[in-house]
Amino acid sequence: MSYSKTDFGKDFHWGTATASYQVEGAYQTDGRGMSIWDTLSHISGKVKNNDTGDVACDFYNRYESDLEIMKSMNFNAFRFSISWSRILPEGTGKINPKGIEFYHKLIDKCLSLGITPFITIYHWDLPQTLEDKGGWTNREILNWFAEYTEILTKEYGAKVKNWMILNEPVIFGGFGYLMGHFAPQRKGLENFLPAVHHISMVMGVAGRIVRKNVEKAIVGTTFSCGVIDPLKDTKEDKQGAAAQDAYWNRMFIEPVLGLGYPKETLKWLEGIDKYVQEGDMEKLPFDFDFVGVQNYSRMVVTHDPNDKLFGSRGVDLKKELKINEKDITSIGWEVYPEGIYRILKQYGAYKNVKQIIVTENGAAGNDKESKNGEVNDPQRVKYYKEYLKNVLKAKKEGVNVGGYFAWSYMDNFEWMEGYSQRFGIVYVDYPTQKRIIKDSGKWFKEFLK
Ligand code: BGC
Repeated sequence: MSYSKTDFGKDFHWGTATASYQVEGAYQTDGRGMSIWDTLSHISGKVKNNDTGDVACDFYNRYESDLEIMKSMNFNAFRFSISWSRILPEGTGKINPKGIEFYHKLIDKCLSLGITPFITIYHWDLPQTLEDKGGWTNREILNWFAEYTEILTKEYGAKVKNWMILNEPVIFGGFGYLMGHFAPQRKGLENFLPAVHHISMVMGVAGRIVRKNVEKAIVGTTFSCGVIDPLKDTKEDKQGAAAQDAYWNRMFIEPVLGLGYPKETLKWLEGIDKYVQEGDMEKLPFDFDFVGVQNYSRMVVTHDPNDKLFGSRGVDLKKELKINEKDITSIGWEVYPEGIYRILKQYGAYKNVKQIIVTENGAAGNDKESKNGEVNDPQRVKYYKEYLKNVLKAKKEGVNVGGYFAWSYMDNFEWMEGYSQRFGIVYVDYPTQKRIIKDSGKWFKEFLK
């Protein structure tokens, strides 16, 4: 099937995405406070190669030329996040005018180029001062987040209509407060369960503030999701897959859609009741205008009696699934284009989901600059072509997909992987901060012409 941009419809958003901590740098400039990712990356031996976001892509100083590059690739939308500790260096209280000004300039530049800005309110960089008070485990976060959202929406609401509350609850919640991989590296259900409930509640709390302060607001939030397949067609493997599905794909979206926590599948979620106060379950649902789907790969799992959370584990792609090396990206994720079609169908089947926007999709690679100054990334070009084909297939079958954002505009700080994994369609030569549009970026330029 060959396809073109017009098959996706006239009003389709075509964008790229970034996040504040991953690109901005300037970590002590103009009054910015510290976030939990500054803290973690500054501890020796934590992030690969001891990389930090101190400088990152220097987007704080280079946003104008970066937006011009984006425009030259014919994108009409840009998804970025706001650094909470730039706006409120201590998390609450005193506002930092320089931080406010930076995002005004960024938004103005987008608008002057005809690029529609999409704001993510929270992409994981919690102010350290708030983590010191318990972070997401402290119910007070509902008030802290409300204060922050009030400020943002009053400042930028006249210029920006598209808002996303959170980026990927299951990743920052699960990796940050259950498994302990990501900042703030806390572990255990006693941290995770209150965090889950507060993360779920905050979507409605902040969603209502956006609606109140922003005229004609289009409010969404984003979820990391992907299909989970059982390795074998056995009862045990299927049960294991269902448990993982409840965790990765259902736990955060279903309460907000009014369906409650998936406790019948994940028994240990019953422990959340301890943190649910009277009236919470009524306040929890929020009628989002769109849901952001962020998909990269799929997971294949098999029964594992030793796994206490799911009774299953992910399988080894090469040994157990016999996946060819070329179908695994440099970060170790399987290239599985049909997965985006299937997860769009899964999310599209929820009655209350009005629209879906693919707010992230992309592939990691070990890209290098060639002798003639190009960056050739044929695997990524193929990845995008195949995934987009599957997005279109879901759309043609009735899933209301309203936009697509490539992750990422440029190579950036890939969390615990530091700068070792490159997801950009624009290459960043970190020592010089030179940008080079990769072949995948050139492909988009042609496709979006
Ligand atoms: C996140 C990004 C991240 C990307 C690739 C998503 O989980 O939102 O911040 O860089 O995936 O790992």
